[in-house]
Amino acid sequence: MLMRPDVVYDCYNSVKSDDSKVIYLSPQGKTLNQAKVEELAKEKHLILLCGHYEGIDQRVIDKIVDEEISIGDYVLTGGEIPAMVLIDSVSRYVQGVLADESTVDESFSNGLLEYPQYTRPEVFEGMEVPEVLKSGHHKNIEKWRREESLKRTLEKRPDLLEKAQLTKEDKKILENLNKDFKY
Ligand SMILES: C[S@@+](CC[C@H](N)C(=O)[O-])C[C@H]1O[C@@H](n2cnc3c(N)ncnc32)[C@H](O)[C@@H]1O
Repeated sequence: MLMRPDVVYDCYNSVKSDDSKVIYLSPQGKTLNQAKVEELAKEKHLILLCGHYEGIDQRVIDKIVDEEISIGDYVLTGGEIPAMVLIDSVSRYVQGVLADESTVDESFSNGLLEYPQYTRPEVFEGMEVPEVLKSGHHKNIEKWRREESLKRTLEKRPDLLEKAQLTKEDKKILENLNKDFKY
């Protein structure tokens, strides 16, 4: 079963504007990432087209779709959940949704994973909040966060390091963490 092109086209015509960009959520699209999220947040009007069943008749895709986006290499029943993923990730970059700095240090925003975060209590099940975070010394805290960010990325997603913008200091830290790692 497939969605008819005329029905989708009528729907598109009823919501489009001069500024609309049409995205078809599809497993065949480019995989969504943070750079794409930030790019889409700059658009004035997004129309998200969700398929169901086996998808949508190709003719209307050819006629109205600007870009196909996938949320990963697996197949879901419909495009609604992918659309929700896109809406949630993009709306975080729309002014007023979050406090201004909230997206600055996050995973992927600077090409690395975020450093570990801690809150109260100071001791939980015998595990303490790292001393440096209680010191109030901003420069040392920043240095510690950068090192932890690099360490985590190296452990969990070393593929990200190939594209991340690394300083000389970063490279030295990474080489100390993993002698075999070459940049
Ligand atoms: C069962 S899928 C159709 C799969 C299609 N026959 C194919 O093999 O490429 C139905 C709809 O779910 C949505 N969908 C499924 N997986 C998706 C994914 N990974 N990312 C984005 N949308 C997806 C698309 O809108 C698609 O039209």
